[in-house]
Amino acid sequence: MSSSTTLPPPYYNSDKSSFAYVSARERWPIILTQAIDDVSRAVGNVSSENTGKIAEGKEIIKEISALLYDLDHDKLITPFSGETVKGLASIDSWEKNPLFVDLKGYNKDLDKLDSKFKTWLKAPWLFSECFLYRKLGLFFQVSKYWKNYDFFEASKTNAFKSSKEGVIELALRYKKLSEQLTNLEKQDNKISEEDKKTFLEELFKEFVDISLWGNATDLSLLTNMSLADIKKLQGAEVRRKNEANILVNDVDFAWRSVFHDSKYNTRQQKSSAGGSVSSVDIVLDNAGFELFTDLVFALFLLDSKLTSRVVLHPKSIPWFVSDVLPHDFVNLIHQLKDPKFFVIEGKNAEHREALDFISDKLNIYYDGNNREVSVGKIEIRTSPFWTTQYGFNDELRENGAGGGDEVWKLLKQTSSLVVFKGDLNHRKLLGDLEWERTTPFEKAVGSSLNKGGLRLVTFRTIKADVVVGLPTGKEKELNEEWKKKKKSESNGKTKDDEYLERGWAYSGKWAVIEYSGTKY
Ligand code: F6P
Ligand code: MG
Repeated sequence: MSSSTTLPPPYYNSDKSSFAYVSARERWPIILTQAIDDVSRAVGNVSSENTGKIAEGKEIIKEISALLYDLDHDKLITPFSGETVKGLASIDSWEKNPLFVDLKGYNKDLDKLDSKFKTWLKAPWLFSECFLYRKLGLFFQVSKYWKNYDFFEASKTNAFKSSKEGVIELALRYKKLSEQLTNLEKQDNKISEEDKKTFLEELFKEFVDISLWGNATDLSLLTNMSLADIKKLQGAEVRRKNEANILVNDVDFAWRSVFHDSKYNTRQQKSSAGGSVSSVDIVLDNAGFELFTDLVFALFLLDSKLTSRVVLHPKSIPWFVSDVLPHDFVNLIHQLKDPKFFVIEGKNAEHREALDFISDKLNIYYDGNNREVSVGKIEIRTSPFWTTQYGFNDELRENGAGGGDEVWKLLKQTSSLVVFKGDLNHRKLLGDLEWERTTPFEKAVGSSLNKGGLRLVTFRTIKADVVVGLPTGKEKELNEEWKKKKKSESNGKTKDDEYLERGWAYSGKWAVIEYSGTKY
């Protein structure tokens, strides 16, 4: 994309035909109310002597309630300052404090908005949604006793608990596979290079698929769903049925990128990214089941020796309800091992063994110094950039804004493939702009990310309006299919045709795997 290209407008919360409209009016109030409930419960559990913590918790509840009021009443979005967030230090100190370094950027973008889009229910969707979560997180960050409190943790943990069947199924599958991978290693000379490649390629695709559909479990969308329904979204059978719903599938390019830099590529000069270590990077999305699928994918990449390092990029503050924070990763390793977390009934000893097996493996890889591992490790790297409001392309943010430049520079130098998980990352890659749905993915991502050789792929179940890369005619076909389905479900009583037509894009039932970068 050249700088002279005019970009499409963003999706706005005032647009009735966009999921933005419903999100801001129906989903966000529920999410804020759930946060209030969570903090109220937490305050109730604080020992009565701890009066300071109780008082502060109650203040936070008031702040969230005021935010909810502003949202419900379509009030102006107010910039971050000591007046709008009680206890926030003065603006001069923000740049020196990693907790607040991004706030000026938020204020700047708010300032730049046309005045008719400055209220909660009319603002650009991506900007206001990030602003909402940023403000929510800030109430805690400026406090004394609640600084690191994750008000979404309980819901993430409960949802993971309800994913027991899917977790066990995948753990069993991986444990068995891991034996095959070890055998592959032992038979180093007996299997032809070509057969080995085919075997690994098939597995790579299987684990991509698992990680992709793991993204269907999303607490921010499940505001109306019972936890028991969650397991219906998981498991091998569901995935097989969904195969046809992957609208664009660039998995071959992703595979070739990883293979190209791997030890198995003996034929060509490995270009990698020019840095000293090549890794596969996963810009994470949700905790719980999705994270579990991502970690199994990571284990596969390391155990198969397709890469020597997997870098995980979680968020650093509670974000979009389900997103992974570093402690979610550590919690998951413990939860798998804890017999009280996933209670195994009956004589299924192999279920417990499989869960322990995955937990132990993760532990070993996470502790890079462990002697048992000759190659491969899992690393966690956070950046405040992931919780800014910026689209990822240079054209969507001023140079260097939010720490983006450092993030991209490092990824370009060290990564064989950057995997972006989930809907929000995808929206940010495309700027959440109203692209024609036939726009080529690379064009919408923009050249700034590809300069310097970044190879990226997205595993996204589609939960928002922005979709690109569709073949001509596909959008129309999907609109009609969805409309027909909804009409028959409601016995012909539809309320708003256009919304229903586009509903397939918010349903999480379709997906894309889209690649941009050098194609090997
Ligand atoms: O589109 C609905 C939505 O909840 C958005 O708010 C957000 O972009 C996304 O889905 C969250 O999904 P994910 O966890 O896949 O990024
Ligand atoms: Mg998420």
